[in-house]
Amino acid sequence: MRTWIVAGNWKMNNTIAEAVALAKAIKDGTATLKRGEVILAPPFTSLQSVSQTINDSRVALAAQNMHQEEKGAFTGEVSPVMLKDCGCTHVIIGHSERRKYFHEKDADVNLKVKKALACGLKPIMCVGETEEEREKNVTRAVVGRQVKEGLRGVEKINNVVIAYEPVWAIGTGKVATSAQAQEVHSFIRVILKDLFGDGAASNTRILYGGSVTKDNIGELIAMEDIDGALVGGASLKADGFLGIIKNIAEKK
Ligand code: PGA
Repeated sequence: MRTWIVAGNWKMNNTIAEAVALAKAIKDGTATLKRGEVILAPPFTSLQSVSQTINDSRVALAAQNMHQEEKGAFTGEVSPVMLKDCGCTHVIIGHSERRKYFHEKDADVNLKVKKALACGLKPIMCVGETEEEREKNVTRAVVGRQVKEGLRGVEKINNVVIAYEPVWAIGTGKVATSAQAQEVHSFIRVILKDLFGDGAASNTRILYGGSVTKDNIGELIAMEDIDGALVGGASLKADGFLGIIKNIAEKK
């Protein structure tokens, strides 16, 4: 039985004071949850303060990116060791905005996933096709390649979370239909089965991301292979984010 996850990716939003207030509201709003995992991914500058705020709660902390080395002359970068030091248990890797604006390739994603695991962080590895790729009917080829290349050389998948985020659905209000999402999620699970075997594949959490709100999550989460959500815009307001969590907790 897979436990659901709702992760909030705050992207480049919130000062420390705003981050702490939002984290406190999420902590309070999830205090009575019995199951499931809630993860917040604030910007680097708020990690430590949010970590202190969610201390002693069921809310976990993720970074939005990391460098693949533990330390060294990499001006402007942050290492997995530093993230752990701030209280992170998870790290988002290969988000489409990293791929698009910062030119991260599958090979970079792979190095980061392996390093995160080696340092005891759980990667949330993002994959997803662009609108053009979907129109050209190469969604499976693209997502399949991203999953295989991103996980190349990974021996055990039990600490990896996958997020399927169609690029055309991110921040656009154009959510994938539950059927479109389920189709890709089950395809990803087949690939995981080939790579890691039946048991590991059926235990891996695969989250959907892209314009998720409390109003559309119900249909998505009813799908067999959708184990939760990676939420951007709607994670910036406590009400919206808690609404998503509530809808998932009722259904899974
Ligand atoms: P969105 O972002 O929910 O604002 O579409 C999702 C994401 O980028 O993780």
